[in-house]
Amino acid sequence: MSATTQRTSGHPIDKIFLDRWSSRAFTDEPISVEQLHTLLEAAHWAPSSSNSQPWRFVYSLRGSNSWQRFVSILAPANQVWAQHAAALVFLLTKLESRSPNSGQLHPLPMHVFDAGTASGFFALQATLKGFNTHVMAGIDRELAKLELNIPDGYEVHVAIAVGKRADSATLPDPYRERDVPSSRMPLSELVFEGVFSAQADLT
Ligand SMILES: Cc1cc2nc3c(=O)[nH]c(=O)nc-3n(C[C@H](O)[C@H](O)[C@H](O)COP(=O)(O)O)c2cc1C
Repeated sequence: MSATTQRTSGHPIDKIFLDRWSSRAFTDEPISVEQLHTLLEAAHWAPSSSNSQPWRFVYSLRGSNSWQRFVSILAPANQVWAQHAAALVFLLTKLESRSPNSGQLHPLPMHVFDAGTASGFFALQATLKGFNTHVMAGIDRELAKLELNIPDGYEVHVAIAVGKRADSATLPDPYRERDVPSSRMPLSELVFEGVFSAQADLT
């Protein structure tokens, strides 16, 4: 068993997995380009299908010229709190790759899986460095392509808010009461030996 203040795991795991949670409260503290690159560096060491590394990252730091443009791409409910983050990072992937041998373009069918892995690495490195991250699928993807100058052949997945975690009391309603570490389903409902059973999902 491992535990942090409010989360307990059923089996022993490193505390980083419990310490990472997606708060919506951020302090005013900025993140430096160097610090952000440490998180991006970790993200790009994620495994990917055939080492295709389809992930691309487009970021803005709060207070920079591009900040309002980045915030405007977020769904209104995410703008409320994510505008106070120290950085916003859009995560996109390339949909096709060119074979070095034949020069032919071929699809990258695992690009979404690869993006998720990179996002996880990013979040864990951020946690190790004392930063909070919050992934948002609530974004306007068409606007993202326009505002970030993303051509066809790429898919925009999420924006990630990054910064130092503030006290949840700093959030407006109704975000304040929701700003607590969530729990997880018991592993026994998710793990099967030998054969899968959908029984738990039907109830
Ligand atoms: C792909 C993805 C999309 C998400 N989109 C949003 C979002 O648009 N807005 C939001 O407030 N949280 C969003 N979240 C955060 C999840 O709600 C959160 O990760 C989940 O409830 C588990 O909580 P935890 O990250 O604190 O452990 C998203 C998370 C993921 C992984």
